[in-house]
Amino acid sequence: MKGKKILIGISGSIAAYKIPILVRLLIKQGAEVKIIMTTSATQFVSPLVLGTLSKNPVLVDMTADNTWSNHVMLGRWADIMLIAPASCNTIAKMSNGLCDNLLLAVYLSATCPVFIAPAMDEDMWHHPSLQQNLTRLATYGNRLIQAEFGELASGLTGMGRMAEPETIIENLENFFNDKNALAGKTAIVTAGPTYENLDPVRFIGNYSTGKMGIAIAETLASMGCKVNLILGPTSLSAHHTGISTHRVVSAEQMFQTAVSLFPNQDIAVMAAAVADYTPVNISSEKIKKKDDTFELQLTKTKDILKFLGGIKKNHQVLVGFALENHDEKTYALNKLKEKNADFIVLNSLRDSGAGFATDTNKISIFEQNGTETAYSLKSKTEVASDIVEKIIEGLRLKNNL
Ligand code: CTP
Repeated sequence: MKGKKILIGISGSIAAYKIPILVRLLIKQGAEVKIIMTTSATQFVSPLVLGTLSKNPVLVDMTADNTWSNHVMLGRWADIMLIAPASCNTIAKMSNGLCDNLLLAVYLSATCPVFIAPAMDEDMWHHPSLQQNLTRLATYGNRLIQAEFGELASGLTGMGRMAEPETIIENLENFFNDKNALAGKTAIVTAGPTYENLDPVRFIGNYSTGKMGIAIAETLASMGCKVNLILGPTSLSAHHTGISTHRVVSAEQMFQTAVSLFPNQDIAVMAAAVADYTPVNISSEKIKKKDDTFELQLTKTKDILKFLGGIKKNHQVLVGFALENHDEKTYALNKLKEKNADFIVLNSLRDSGAGFATDTNKISIFEQNGTETAYSLKSKTEVASDIVEKIIEGLRLKNNL
């Protein structure tokens, strides 16, 4: 943790008693620590203790001594913001964008990764509103440090105990190690739909939003990979500075861009929902309504994944998707073989919460060595981490790392 800048936001929960120990451990390991507290947090642990241990003044209010606390600069100063303990109330406010204290103002303006270590009693932990708020925060890219099972302030035993300081530090260390896991590597990711024009005002398209592909691009970039995101027409976009976005419209444009970039990549993830067919002729004028029926002649588009599978070099890891609604496993295994991918990520449309335009996904990953790994329903950000973990394993195997 040497030289790492950690900004800790403490909200009102009895688990705040663990934070002085956490701060001491971080300082001992060479980290720089700044602390923000909510007013109620100051009733559980003293700002004097935390200020002394962190060697920095503890901030509670938006203004102090006629000076405005610069919440934007605090978020920019930090390598990581950690909200610990994150109370049920603070989690609800974070998930809904409320901004009625300094901790929330800093959270909303933070450009650094945010970790959340929840703490509450078991019945609150299981309430659907809390669980929905945590899922929503995960879709914003925030990372959850799982609460644990154990003795609670109520005297009951159950879920909701804040992770121990050592576990919190382990999570932060893993993040900093991961941050460089793909340094020096390059990737292309296709994402979103394609539109195949019929005339100047109409197209054939699909409901893909690109969320899954964008989440993969952002996860790769957060680990130091240089990513070229080839993005079909969608209102969404990627924000990480390690990502160069190439906007395309048609399957042909996506093909050309992917093929020209592929030779210099270590990784290629084909997450786009590419049109399988495109009109033979595009009318230069708007097609007018005439007969009762209208026939459209379509021709196959080029299969980008299959083409890249054909020219793939030994060191490159190629990942494809399969979106199916029946005989899922058979189709996924066929695609793995036919397209010469290293991994096929299967989504079944029969699983609720999986597929287009949702914030969650449920996947299975099929590998060339015949293994299948099934995952539970997770946020697309967490699913992206699972996929990237497999990619890293694949790179290590292929390159003897
Ligand atoms: N894909 C591609 N280029 C295409 C069609 C598909 O790169 N022209 C990629 C997708 O991005 C995905 C994988 O191939 O990674 C499988 O796409 P999918 O639409 O599920 O399968 P298809 O091969 O198109 O077959 P089918 O539609 O019959 O299931």
